Amino acid sequence: MGKKHKAIAGEIIVADGPWRELLLVCRKCGDKLGGGFGPKGKDTLSQGYKQVLRDGGRRREVRVLEVGCLGLCPKDGVTVMHGGRPGEMLVIPEGFDLAELAVRLAAS
Ligand code: FES
Repeated sequence: MGKKHKAIAGEIIVADGPWRELLLVCRKCGDKLGGGFGPKGKDTLSQGYKQVLRDGGRRREVRVLEVGCLGLCPKDGVTVMHGGRPGEMLVIPEGFDLAELAVRLAAS
């Protein structure tokens, strides 16, 4: 199937994507922190995590998607949800080593 899809009445179209993993990141948590991750502590969790994936050659395998509030609303942390485990939300504290997060999520 090409890049542009046209809906067909009564049919569901399935398009292949390049991703093998999905990470949902609360945008509101990130906005409240105003950074807090990466080598200088200036990146959002999404930015920092994407860089870790890039450094590991896995950027095209993992879809990092910022979403609205996930309902936990932690202080000094960001709520994330791994697409393969929707019943488990993780609170990532400000300054956490995102390479360690990548290892943990790849193993789950
Ligand atoms: S503000 Fe992030 S979980 Fe609610």
